[in-house]
Amino acid sequence: MSDIETLKQESRIFNPPESFVKNAAISGMEQYKAMCAAAESDYEGFWAQLARENVQWHKPFTKTLNESEAPFYKWFEDGQLNVSYNCLDRNLQNGNAGKTAIIFESDDGKVTKVTYQELHDKVCQFANGLKSLGIKKGDRVVIYMPMSVEGVAAMQACARIGATHSVVFGGFSAKSLQERIIDAGAVAVITADEQVRGGKHLPLKAIVDEAIGMGGCDTLRNVVVYKRTGGNINFVSGRDLWLHDVIANQAATCEPEWVEAEHPLFILYTSGSTGKPKGVQHSSGGYLLWAMLTMKWTFDIKPTDVFWCTADIGWVTGHTYIAYGPLAVGATQIVFEGVPTFPNAGRFWDMIQKHKTTIFYTAPTAIRSLIKAAEADPAIHPNKYDLSSLRLLGSVGEPINPEAWMWYYKNVGRENCPIADTFWQTETGGHMITPLPGATPMVPGSCTLPLPGIMTAVVDETGHDLPWGQGGILVVKRPWPAMIRTIWGDADRFRKSYFPEELGGKTYLAGDGAVRNEKTGYFTITGRIDDVLNVSGHRMGTMEIESALVANPIVAEAAVVGKPDETTGESICAFVVLKRARPTGDEAKQIAKELRDWVAKEIGPIAKPKEIRFGDNLPKTRSGKIMRRLLRVIAKGEQITQDVSTLENPAILEQLKLAQ
Ligand code: PRX
Repeated sequence: MSDIETLKQESRIFNPPESFVKNAAISGMEQYKAMCAAAESDYEGFWAQLARENVQWHKPFTKTLNESEAPFYKWFEDGQLNVSYNCLDRNLQNGNAGKTAIIFESDDGKVTKVTYQELHDKVCQFANGLKSLGIKKGDRVVIYMPMSVEGVAAMQACARIGATHSVVFGGFSAKSLQERIIDAGAVAVITADEQVRGGKHLPLKAIVDEAIGMGGCDTLRNVVVYKRTGGNINFVSGRDLWLHDVIANQAATCEPEWVEAEHPLFILYTSGSTGKPKGVQHSSGGYLLWAMLTMKWTFDIKPTDVFWCTADIGWVTGHTYIAYGPLAVGATQIVFEGVPTFPNAGRFWDMIQKHKTTIFYTAPTAIRSLIKAAEADPAIHPNKYDLSSLRLLGSVGEPINPEAWMWYYKNVGRENCPIADTFWQTETGGHMITPLPGATPMVPGSCTLPLPGIMTAVVDETGHDLPWGQGGILVVKRPWPAMIRTIWGDADRFRKSYFPEELGGKTYLAGDGAVRNEKTGYFTITGRIDDVLNVSGHRMGTMEIESALVANPIVAEAAVVGKPDETTGESICAFVVLKRARPTGDEAKQIAKELRDWVAKEIGPIAKPKEIRFGDNLPKTRSGKIMRRLLRVIAKGEQITQDVSTLENPAILEQLKLAQ
């Protein structure tokens, strides 16, 4: 991976193609600058106008921003709307009823197309079905679903009746699921019998059963099961219901529940540096506005586009750029059930060719692994496919290294497609810093400049602006409509995590480091400044993994650090002290495997440490603090140059260096 110094010196510049600039929604830097200036000069007026033009309000708002309880900001608070109405009914009124909303491709390549009318009817039946179970506005519903039309419909159906959904990624374990059901106080779980990925059937309903079996899910009344495979599952009578039974005979219309703009549309759990994952709470009005605007600005969406975001609905990218954004702007989008490597690593290119995809949005990890695959097997190299339908590429979730950027640009975009390297977070609701495809000259490895109205800055620990060229912490100085509203059930943690007193209590702390280019002011993200890891674009807390490890009865102590990885960006390296003698050789291998599987059960397979090293102890200061800084150096296999004289037990470093 590229280090920061190399990134800072990156000087290649790629201008947006003329043909793109001509027809772009934001065309040229002058227009971009004018929009930024408009936001600067009348911040509330800027957002109010956009909110009136883009969102269909049931009751118009009169107040734009309420800062009286900052950092608990409220946007458009006296306005009323329904997000599902904006995504579906509006398209029926706009003449899009017969337009394809979703092109669904299953793992085995079967394609199903769903029009806006059909999606509307499906969502309404689903919503009526949920209502028949007594689910109502304000209730929480956990969605544990495969990538499917039904998964998107489940989210939309909740939005339609004002229920707050919390989607849990299908790769999370029963324990993670149980914790989220309890924390959210969910009344129902919507799931499927199984999911199909890469030709394999994987259980979902059985994991839900296991989660509920762990106890504590006292608020839960029902489990609604979508029959995906017809695989054998256990059914608890009275509690479990088939989705097809729940929606049978339900009307294909459903009067939307009009909610206040601040009504929580969803809670999405994400990792922080301490404690359990936190439930990031998002609003309805402000969130929808930003989902729409970023579809228009960043993706320059046009009526004829075929948009494809490869994320899973279990992550925020799948919320904003699958379940809500594309539908709210009336786009045609692809929803894909499978994995990029099945039946072979040409799957993405094959699907772009087949569906004439025009906008393709994926993660750097996927690109890096497909580069490797294409190098190993020229038959599935993107140059073997007709990718001429593409006009725009996007990247999300982690830093994209310049080599991967160049490969993507040349081999997938054929040097004719801008790349939107979109920096954002679960908490931000949508893109924050990204090139605009018809305006911003691109530099590989830089997410370039903030979107209009987004007041990002690089500051020091006391909140003072740093000069361009100097690395510091990334903040957002003004609230924006799609921002996180609170952490579900933990307002205090919200304030402390994101609006710390040291920064004045009103500045949003992103948790990433950043540096601006001395000449252009372009932002480059330098990585997390807290104990959060990013493995294949999946966000995880080191503490979470450590807690999972020490929950194992044989583990005395554990420290987890990130290590740069060619493909996954970062990988997890765990240093473990057992309650018994330090294992070596085959025994060490065996125990490491057991611990890896243990973490997969505790959190999910994505949290499995790639490497586990056993020691008699961990490097600690005399006051007992684990020196993670040193562990990071050891994990990288580098020489320790830091002063280790304050260590209680410096000899341990040699042991950990050699340990495998
Ligand atoms: O560290 C940044 C990294 O991903 C983190 C947010 O992760 P999550 O909440 O899971 O959301 C991912 C999808 C938006 C950030 O704090 N990150 C995300 N996008 C980029 C990035 N790092 C560098 N460049 C990006 N484009």
